[in-house]
Amino acid sequence: MAGPARRLPDRPMPYWLADDRPARLTVRSPEQDAEVARRVDTLLGKIKDRSAVVGVVGLGYVGLPFAVEKAKVGFRVIGVEQNPKRAARVNAADNYIEDVVDTDLHELVGKGRVRAVTDFAEVPQMDVIVIAVPTPLTINLTPDLQYVENVTHELAKYIRPGQLISLESTTYPGTTDEVMLPILERSGLKADQDFFLAHSPERVDPGNKRFNTKNTNKVVGGVGPASQTVAVAFYSQAIENIVPVSSAKAAEMVKVYENTFRAVNIALVNEMLLLCDRMGLSVWEVLDAAFTKPFGIMPFYPGPGVGGHCIPLDPHYLEWKAREFNFNTHFIALAGEINRKMPEFVRQKAARELNRFGKAVSRSKILALGVSYKRDVGDWRESPAIEVIKLLQEERAEVVYHDPHVPDFREHGLAMESTPLTDELLSECDLVVILTEHSAVDHARVVARSKCVLDTRNATRKVTEGREKIVLL
Ligand SMILES: NC(=O)c1ccc[n+]([C@@H]2O[C@H](COP(=O)([O-])OP(=O)(O)OC[C@H]3O[C@@H](n4cnc5c(N)ncnc54)[C@H](O)[C@@H]3O)[C@@H](O)[C@H]2O)c1
Repeated sequence: MAGPARRLPDRPMPYWLADDRPARLTVRSPEQDAEVARRVDTLLGKIKDRSAVVGVVGLGYVGLPFAVEKAKVGFRVIGVEQNPKRAARVNAADNYIEDVVDTDLHELVGKGRVRAVTDFAEVPQMDVIVIAVPTPLTINLTPDLQYVENVTHELAKYIRPGQLISLESTTYPGTTDEVMLPILERSGLKADQDFFLAHSPERVDPGNKRFNTKNTNKVVGGVGPASQTVAVAFYSQAIENIVPVSSAKAAEMVKVYENTFRAVNIALVNEMLLLCDRMGLSVWEVLDAAFTKPFGIMPFYPGPGVGGHCIPLDPHYLEWKAREFNFNTHFIALAGEINRKMPEFVRQKAARELNRFGKAVSRSKILALGVSYKRDVGDWRESPAIEVIKLLQEERAEVVYHDPHVPDFREHGLAMESTPLTDELLSECDLVVILTEHSAVDHARVVARSKCVLDTRNATRKVTEGREKIVLL
């Protein structure tokens, strides 16, 4: 007969992981408990002595750096990547992610510690499987979980007892428990008993030189106590500080809250910018002064909008889930509305500046300086810069772009290539619009050689000569 839930023997556990787990996951016989304890111990042993084989599904901005970090601390890593070109590049040690050090990948691939495959046939060899696939939105701004679901169906075909599966993709609270767990249990194996399941959101900040995978605190939430124990042990191997939370759902909520926090605060400064523009004030001056307050305030800066794979998308995952609870997330809706307005405001301000010189947008040549969504990275997904280019082209301006990190891009029906930043180009353009502040660009030179510069990022703050040519957004 099934007895009450018991703690696993000799395993220290935080109080919130103890006896308040859902009954479905915790009611087990003493024999089952002993079996679970044995599986936990086996996996912990393999994690500790690095004999555990780590699978990483999705070798993109998150997955490839993760695979390299795990291999660096001694695990053998197999990446499952559906894009055959990417898989081939990994196997050829041909790095395509800026946050990965070329020589690290070269060394690890050479030693056989990292390799990539394009299907799931090797899943039974893996002890830990981390999922880092995209979680985009549909055109109606609802969650598109097709990648997570496809991967989970594939894993369910090959799953074996004793494995840990951890979802790193950002998603709404409930995905791991309500979407993944039932699919995986169709294999006949039970979560937190036969296999372990957790959510640990990725917090990578591409291009950040100070915080990397190792020194960024990692939130971990298992679907039950056994899952929590092995997931915490696994992540502790390469990361300095682990933050356990009581459930996978709580871990999912932590991540969407973090991204919502950014989206809302960016929207707030963007709204301030729109108001300051009407009032004839410089928002940049106001913010610089406001951020001298040593407490109770945190710097956020306005710009041409928000981009990347996180801030414009993730809050809408929460917004959608909240509706199930008859709850409207007002801040998320409002932040999305304001941030999406910004590219149009940049277009208006560009037209205003050109008018000052008697130029129509349709007869102007405009240089868009920077197209990636943030400084010093090559990721242009959801970039507001591309939206600005599109809006200016719709007004029949001739638009070229330069971005030292983005040689070309295809988005919104646009296909463009970066133009070299020559003195001739700068002098022949009627307007230069700085859309991304890359440190590789000499902004003093840009101002010196240009007729007029619309600076949406305050990238020219240190430029002293030719300030009369600069208009801040
Ligand atoms: N990029 C970031 O800065 C960042 C930061 C934190 C969290 N995240 C989250 O991490 C997740 C992954 O983001 P990313 O930026 O690494 O995405 P990405 O598009 O760079 O990489 C995802 C990879 O998964 C592969 N893939 C898709 N379906 C697959 C399948 N069925 N089998 C095997 N491979 C498959 C794709 O081919 C791609 O290479 C998303 O949920 C994102 O929101 C991203």
